[in-house]
Amino acid sequence: MQGPFGETRSVLIRRGKIEQRVRAVARQITKDFKGERVHLIGVLKGACIFLSDLVREINLETSIDFIAVSSYGRGKESSGQVRVLKDLDSNIAGLNVILVEDILDTGLTLSYLLRILRQRRPKSLRVAALLDKPSRRLKPVEGDYVGFKIPNEFVVGYGLDYSERYRNLKDVWVLHLPEEPNH
Ligand code: IMP
Ligand code: MG
Repeated sequence: MQGPFGETRSVLIRRGKIEQRVRAVARQITKDFKGERVHLIGVLKGACIFLSDLVREINLETSIDFIAVSSYGRGKESSGQVRVLKDLDSNIAGLNVILVEDILDTGLTLSYLLRILRQRRPKSLRVAALLDKPSRRLKPVEGDYVGFKIPNEFVVGYGLDYSERYRNLKDVWVLHLPEEPNH
């Protein structure tokens, strides 16, 4: 299967497996916050599919909000710069916040978000990430709820993009790009 950049892809995690893990993560959250309300904050845009599936499997009182940050340009590498593009709609003081991420990579985005959200005094602050690439970490941050640990490969699908493409794929795929000429 070849795309417009000469890229090919191969499946890494099938939809059935994703569904199973999302359900298991939701069960754990339901157990950990028994009798309480959880406020899910999705990091746009990558986390939107994961959050939509996750929240429907959580058996508690829930609310959701979204935040958008920029750190990646159009391609595969992080610029290392994080900036808030769209802030939360509402105050999180006193809430059990679960920050929902598509993937934990270098940890730059997450450590920045945790820092600014902590200043707003939530009752608790945890992290749910569908995917985790531990080998890429530059900042010492971890997910409290992780779907899958994956090797150091660039992946797309289930919300994750390459230049805004492929977010709609139901499985998670490894993207193989053609060799870049100047490297
Ligand atoms: P971090 O700040 O390096 O941890 O990067 C986090 C963000 O980079 C994620 O929320 C994704 O949007 C993006 N990202 C990191 N790795 C991948 C990947 O393999 N595929 C698609 N997006 C990725
Ligand atoms: Mg992205």
